[in-house]
Amino acid sequence: MAKLLGGIATSHIPAIGVAMDQGLENTPYWKEFFEAYPPVRDWLYTQEPDIAIIFYNDHGLEFFHDRKPTFAMGAAAQYENADEGWGIAEIPPVTGETELSWHIVNHLIEHDFDITVCQEMKVDHGLTVPLTLMWPGHKYGHVKVIPVAINCERHPMPKPSRSYAFGKAIGDAVRSFAGDQKVIVMGTGGLSHQLDGQRAGFINKPFDLYCMDKMVDEPELLTCYSNYELVEKAGAQGVELNMWLAMRGALEGEGKLKELHRSYHLPISNTGAGLQLLATDNAR
Ligand code: DHB
Ligand code: FE
Repeated sequence: MAKLLGGIATSHIPAIGVAMDQGLENTPYWKEFFEAYPPVRDWLYTQEPDIAIIFYNDHGLEFFHDRKPTFAMGAAAQYENADEGWGIAEIPPVTGETELSWHIVNHLIEHDFDITVCQEMKVDHGLTVPLTLMWPGHKYGHVKVIPVAINCERHPMPKPSRSYAFGKAIGDAVRSFAGDQKVIVMGTGGLSHQLDGQRAGFINKPFDLYCMDKMVDEPELLTCYSNYELVEKAGAQGVELNMWLAMRGALEGEGKLKELHRSYHLPISNTGAGLQLLATDNAR
């Protein structure tokens, strides 16, 4: 059986990608933010995951507002990135995975998640910035990535409870895959932020810290929100919490989780930037 080692949640702010491209990690603005990442990188180095399932939202590179799948996933051997206009240098292609991907696709359809399946799919900063944060210098070629996109861009969006259940179904699919692969799940985006409109710049630190607390043992207290309540509490783009919840849902069948790392830094660009590592008993 394939094994889930744990989950990582991280912000995916494009400015992080630009800062890494320009080598700004040790400048006053960035130092504290980047100092949070080495413990998570060390964990990945020891655990040697074969596959990373990444829950992210596509901000318009592959799916613009005219065609927005609620849930989409890749089943391709490779994924390209492209210029989105944020000033991040284009990254080398991301290695895909087809066997587990198709197993998950079949499992999801059997369990009533009628996803869009992509055999070609450009991946945007929601996926590439976290990947570059985990493996700086684009040294992630050895990890096979399964991109899973959740619509957090255009209403109506999947409910947080549904994103959680979707993640749980993916976790179940991994556990039922006959293979010895070591798998991690990642949830990207958040935490609170609003990029435009009257409340542009809105950040809610107490709510973000509450979410990180509840992610560990009581995620059901977060899945009870509607997306409109999330917008109210965490800003228009605070709905990106859905990806954190999908990641947490994938670990639901793993029993009690160990929180190995947590950091929260604000603001980075317009966002409360969170990082959290939750390990299962399968981790070394
Ligand atoms: C920012 C945050 C995001 O999640 C995003 O997708 C784009 C920009 C920001 O804070 O700048
Ligand atoms: Fe985003």
